[in-house]
Amino acid sequence: MNQKETYWHNEAPKYHWAHSRLKLIAETIRGDASAKSVLDIGAGSGTLAPLLGRGVRYLGLDITGRKEPDDAWPPIRFCDFDDADSFSALLDQPFDAVVISGVLEYLKDWRGILRLAATKAVKPGGLLLVSAIYFRFYETFPMKRHPAWINRFAPADIRAALADNDLHLDVTCPMWAGGYPWTTTLSRAFARRGESAHPKWIHWIGVNQFLFVCHREK
Ligand SMILES: C[S@@+](CC[C@H](N)C(=O)[O-])C[C@H]1O[C@@H](n2cnc3c(N)ncnc32)[C@H](O)[C@@H]1O
Repeated sequence: MNQKETYWHNEAPKYHWAHSRLKLIAETIRGDASAKSVLDIGAGSGTLAPLLGRGVRYLGLDITGRKEPDDAWPPIRFCDFDDADSFSALLDQPFDAVVISGVLEYLKDWRGILRLAATKAVKPGGLLLVSAIYFRFYETFPMKRHPAWINRFAPADIRAALADNDLHLDVTCPMWAGGYPWTTTLSRAFARRGESAHPKWIHWIGVNQFLFVCHREK
């Protein structure tokens, strides 16, 4: 194992629980009857899989994934997204839905990974869910920043990258940290449709990230 793999083997288990972001993602996918197969990019141990249920064909990719194929469920395969070619080589069949949750912050070429997800991993007409931190929140409040973040996002960065890849933005949901049950309800209540943006002050009510729900053009 190299240094980066060892780091994430120690760090990733902190996120292996059903927090609000994963619940919101699972609810959104379950609300789309055509989403029968899901690729989870930066899956950790695959906490999303049981939230989706066994009726969905699930594959997770992560730097902590298994290097040798086995029969364990959920299936999580090794992939280092800083090596775009090896990510691309794993994309032999497209999925109905693709999730990129809590991972773009750590990637050297986040635009390249988003491009591959949008053009190769998701089927035409398929669903793509992308989360990104709202860095304004961390600039404003003395909250702990993750030491491995190398990218600082504003919603406009993600919007531009989605548009560059011909993705249609359906909804942007603001999100709060943690796992309080009321936060998924709030995220839906404050969601904005299409390209419509949230007010610039939204971090003042604790919004520290956004979930972008979009579709690949048919
Ligand atoms: C904050 S956790 C998010 C896990 C899950 N998607 C979620 O939303 O809870 C970040 C995940 O990205 C993975 N990761 C970080 N850098 C990576 C890389 N270069 N290649 C593959 N996976 C990576 C970590 O191992 C970890 O599982």
